Amino acid sequence: MYRLPWVVLFGTFLTRLWTSAQGLYVDNGDPYDEGPLEVLTLSISQNDAPMLTKVYYPTRIDTYAVLFFTGGYQGDIPSELYSDVLVRVASHGFVVIGIDYMPMVTATANVRDRSQRLGGDHTQKYMEELQWVTKNLEARIAQHLNRTGLVPDFSHLAIGCHSAGCDPLVKMTLQNHTFSKAALLLEPFSFNYATPVPFQMPAFILGTELSTQPHACVRPGQGYNHFYDMWKCPRMLIAVKDHGHCDIYNETWYKACQLTHFCKTNPDVDINKYHNFIQGISAAFLTTTLQGQDKLQYITNTTLLPVQLLEYKNDMNC
Ligand SMILES: *[C@@H]1O[C@H](CO)[C@@H](O)[C@H](O)[C@H]1NC(C)=O
Ligand SMILES: *[C@@H]1O[C@H](CO)[C@@H](O)[C@H](O)[C@H]1NC(C)=O
Ligand SMILES: *[C@@H]1O[C@H](CO)[C@@H](O)[C@H](O)[C@H]1NC(C)=O
Ligand SMILES: *[C@@H]1O[C@H](CO)[C@@H](O)[C@H](O)[C@H]1NC(C)=O
Repeated sequence: MYRLPWVVLFGTFLTRLWTSAQGLYVDNGDPYDEGPLEVLTLSISQNDAPMLTKVYYPTRIDTYAVLFFTGGYQGDIPSELYSDVLVRVASHGFVVIGIDYMPMVTATANVRDRSQRLGGDHTQKYMEELQWVTKNLEARIAQHLNRTGLVPDFSHLAIGCHSAGCDPLVKMTLQNHTFSKAALLLEPFSFNYATPVPFQMPAFILGTELSTQPHACVRPGQGYNHFYDMWKCPRMLIAVKDHGHCDIYNETWYKACQLTHFCKTNPDVDINKYHNFIQGISAAFLTTTLQGQDKLQYITNTTLLPVQLLEYKNDMNC
């Protein structure tokens, strides 16, 4: 692929985003460095919001782009397990909203209902959650921070997900193409996603080598390559070598995954280094697509990446 036309085309796309992104906090640093902002965690119970909600937000008063994130197994894996990565992303100037389909205790009690749920459609509940946070989050943050003025800007929102958490969020975007400006699909997996996306929304898709090896946590035909094939441009895919499906979790949970052999893991993994990679590539993508600052070279210049690549492809020619 010729690099120049690609840059020019994507430049047009960026310019369009840039003009509408003014007034937002912009991260000017290297996305692989620790973000400059201090981050607080706000919990909102599922009796209050439609779903259990963990919000990771920078303490500095400003207006921020939003990441609407849900964990694996269609949201049953609590977003707390991803807090190390999510806090690091927030420190680059994002309000990160982690949504749990149900709290851990209920999730275990309801195992019997799972087979029914997995075939079902949960997009409506996520839609209600999105409407609730859009309406209430600014006030909740002000209450938590004891100061007003911090604005989560829902007109600059991306969906983010891990594994089968991507199922309901992608279905949401199929129902409504405009609420989200970008899709951060971290090791996406779907039980039944078969509809090609008919509209343009930039997507970054991450895959890991070990996720499809026994004990496999992702069926190859329904994982990252499937999402890449279903997506329309602009789209980018990076699959990393020697990493597995649990490496994104906080260290304690990664170790639990390793001990139980829940998914295949590599015993030599440096979790801190890997989390730094995920937050860096996520911040580079989200800063470009939501904050309007071109950081694509931190994704496309693969020689700079702190991991070994299994596969890299992109399609920006739209
Ligand atoms: C990881 O998540 C747990 C909650 O499950 C939390 O107590 C812990 O502080 C988190 N660790 C990091 C490094 O964020
Ligand atoms: C806000 O005020 C409450 C009550 O005074 C206090 O407990 C809490 O720590 C404060 N929060 C912050 C972020 O300063
Ligand atoms: C899609 O989402 C946007 C932004 O949240 C909202 O304004 C619009 O009404 C939604 N469209 C439909 C058809 O629900
Ligand atoms: C990628 O990064 C390397 C190391 O900083 C640099 O030497 C090279 O010119 C970059 N390549 C492109 C295409 O920007």
